[in-house]
Amino acid sequence: MNQNDKAQFEWWVREDLGYVNGRLHFDGRDLLSLAHEAKTPTFVYSTARIRANLERLHRALADTAVPYHIYYALKANRFLPLVSFLRFSGLCGIDACSPGEVLLARQVGFAEDEISFTGTSLANEDLDLLQRHPGVWVNLDSISAIRRLGQRCHGRDIGLRINPQIGAGYNPLLEYAGEQTTKFGIYREQFPEALAIANQFGLTVKTLHFHIGSGFQQRHLPKVAQVLAQVDWFLQQCTAEQCASVTTLDVGGGLGVPLTAVDEPLNLAEWAGILADYARPRGLTICIEPGDYVVKDAGVLLTQVNTVEQKRDKLFVGINAGFGLQNLHAYYRLPFAITPLLAPTTSHRQTVTIAGHINEALDLFAEDIPLPPLAEGDYLAILNVGGYGSANSSAHCLRGEFSEYLL
Ligand SMILES: Cc1ncc(COP(=O)(O)O)c(C=O)c1O
Repeated sequence: MNQNDKAQFEWWVREDLGYVNGRLHFDGRDLLSLAHEAKTPTFVYSTARIRANLERLHRALADTAVPYHIYYALKANRFLPLVSFLRFSGLCGIDACSPGEVLLARQVGFAEDEISFTGTSLANEDLDLLQRHPGVWVNLDSISAIRRLGQRCHGRDIGLRINPQIGAGYNPLLEYAGEQTTKFGIYREQFPEALAIANQFGLTVKTLHFHIGSGFQQRHLPKVAQVLAQVDWFLQQCTAEQCASVTTLDVGGGLGVPLTAVDEPLNLAEWAGILADYARPRGLTICIEPGDYVVKDAGVLLTQVNTVEQKRDKLFVGINAGFGLQNLHAYYRLPFAITPLLAPTTSHRQTVTIAGHINEALDLFAEDIPLPPLAEGDYLAILNVGGYGSANSSAHCLRGEFSEYLL
């Protein structure tokens, strides 16, 4: 393969991911032998890559000299060995969004004060659980939740999730704030009432929280600066209030990774610099809640081709996995990089559509992508699926079986 082809078809090659002696290796493991051993579909995660991703975040934030905390968003991947690895790495706390996630974090040994909770549409039972865990940090995103937590936990310190009305993500489907009204966060016009209710129950607002979407990339960094300008309005409101003494800015998660050959990796120093320039003069600590950034490119899904068939204008390649294991293309149109476990022996590429085994038209992993000629029985790796894959798995059509391996 020449350099141009490599840049186009194997842009995802890294020190720990690429072909060795004609077989795809990940973190030192031959994935074809693992596929034979494990049976497919199987997710394979690299602890070395997870550690590298977290350490990169630490370096960028530490270099700003602004105090910071990293909470891993458990929703991205809760494979127990992986979460235990994170616990013993000491590199992060946990961002939880449900009672189940709080309990799981506690079960693997995270202390209450290493857990930050930001949920939505909270039931009284959810708030009861938070009452039983007084050391867990809570960010609330509705006036209703402030009132009902206040009734249970008079005098508790809290965070408020605000809606800065600017979103950014891999694409507009993954923006959590923006022009369209979303369910997330407290809007400007609600904020005075939110503070008044906090005051009524003796709650002190110490954190302002926002989360603008999933997968913002280098080109979105100007938006992060714009969001901070919006945050400033909320911060100003707080300074005048007795019930608010904001010490922390929680900027949520959403950091993206390259998904295609043309995506530029996020410049973390630049991103951290934007946050620090805002936080430093205001004496704020920064919290971040990355999920996907930590695990996405640390996970691959191994699958086997069972069908290769031309149907009218499309060459379909059917595999033994479906959108129940990874729905980011089906639901959000995200592109997946897909490659055979045996290195292609030709530079010839065919345009193929990778189809899952679930009886839904949207069950596709990739549409009209160039891949080397494939035969039934071949194995494929779907890359960048460490986040929101197994964690979102469903048994749609009773096709939910899979295994997971932690390297
Ligand atoms: C409040 C909050 N924090 C963090 C995250 C993690 O986002 P990501 O995995 O894109 O980093 C999410 C994702 O939905 C979220 O809603």
